[in-house]
Amino acid sequence: MEDSIIKFILDVGNSKIKMLAGELSNYGEKLRVLKYIEVPSRGIRKNVIENQIYLSESIADAVKEMEAATGLEVKKVILGIGGTNIYSRTKNIKLTFDEEKVITNDHITELFLTAEKELKQKAEQVLESEMYNIRVNNSGIVKNPVGLTGRELQADVHLIFVNENEVEELTEAVNRAKLEVDSIVLNPYASAKATLMEEDKTMGVALIDIGEGTTDIIIYKNNKLIYAKSLPLGGMHYVSDLEYIFSIPKSEAQEIIRQISESKDKKEFNFPVSGNKYISIGNVRKVIDARTGDLVTFIKKAIEESGFTGYLGKGIYLTGGATKLDEIFEGVKSNLGYSVKRVLPVQLAGLEDVRPEMSAAVGILLEVMEKEYNNLEKERKKKEEQENLLKTSMKLNDDKTEEKQPKVKKERFKSVKEWLSNFI
Ligand SMILES: Nc1ncnc2c1ncn2[C@@H]1O[C@H](COP(=O)(O)OP(=O)(O)OP(=O)(O)O)[C@@H](O)[C@H]1O
Ligand SMILES: [Mg+2]
Repeated sequence: MEDSIIKFILDVGNSKIKMLAGELSNYGEKLRVLKYIEVPSRGIRKNVIENQIYLSESIADAVKEMEAATGLEVKKVILGIGGTNIYSRTKNIKLTFDEEKVITNDHITELFLTAEKELKQKAEQVLESEMYNIRVNNSGIVKNPVGLTGRELQADVHLIFVNENEVEELTEAVNRAKLEVDSIVLNPYASAKATLMEEDKTMGVALIDIGEGTTDIIIYKNNKLIYAKSLPLGGMHYVSDLEYIFSIPKSEAQEIIRQISESKDKKEFNFPVSGNKYISIGNVRKVIDARTGDLVTFIKKAIEESGFTGYLGKGIYLTGGATKLDEIFEGVKSNLGYSVKRVLPVQLAGLEDVRPEMSAAVGILLEVMEKEYNNLEKERKKKEEQENLLKTSMKLNDDKTEEKQPKVKKERFKSVKEWLSNFI
């Protein structure tokens, strides 16, 4: 499409590399996925890049497939940042003025910058920021203090940091695949963007994304991002437990997980393994449940740390590839004491078969395209204002001339919320 915006998304997971091409039409009214690709990822294990060359080769494989499928050249990507080095910190920050002042956006920026100075540790970078419990002069909580007058402004500022070295290492692997990194997005934030509705975020929800090597938790309440944390636990740990406990090779452990995910109603079943042995499904389930116990402990602890125990009206939502295993889902569900449900990313046009492992990639696309849409809106408004100014100064705003002017499409000026709801 002429003048449309095309973006390529890259989510480098421990098991798979996901690449997605999305297109926003020239007026921003349509968003569609051009292609979604998954290739096995090599050179990364337990969130550690063990071999830069292998990893960049896997990324290059995805690029090759993408280019062949779309006929487009991939030069830049928006990169998802995951891993376990995510730190969520909150601090109450207060600005005191010598005299009464009208609160401006500059004061808000100052609150964020002060928080960053106080909370940031060496070699960290802020990826997400949020502000809540905002008060002017010790008043009640206000939603937006801009325009109010006072001598004191305070808020709880929440910042999510990532390790700079990790971002650099991943960027290097991407660069080696001859790609430029346009911008980066926090994976758990992206997963939330793809799966949560405003109502979920308002009533309170913890979204858990269980992948191959990581489980991410991200908590929302009152439509604010409250907390995020990652744990090095995912599908691979279930496989390695089976390997270790039953002394079987990895391939057999993987096969058991695959079969168990397909054998829903088999209460009695024995998996044949090497050495003419059999492992009963009951024993496999015990091993799976034990690991899920760790997951449940982590989720409970994270909710406690967030300070929002008892306030998550929507409970727990699960997404990510490993949640396809019913045993994990059931295990979390029966041990958490919250309502638990599985969620998929929003079904965008062009993406027929949505799966839980796509959440991060879809969310990154939504995040970047929302920004593009906002930019289009700003430009349009500016243009419209200029045109109006010109009309007034040239006294052209009489009925006759107006008929000749192209009418500005009112529906284009939809709020972003409405815009996003087009895809949900
Ligand atoms: N049908 C299935 N049944 C059970 N498990 C599955 C199924 N499909 C995928 N998985 C598991 O999901 C995991 C992969 O999920 P996902 O693609 O979300 O991870 P990733 O993004 O590569 O990893 P991470 O986010 O941890 O870096 C693997 O551990 C895999 O075993
Ligand atoms: Mg992932």
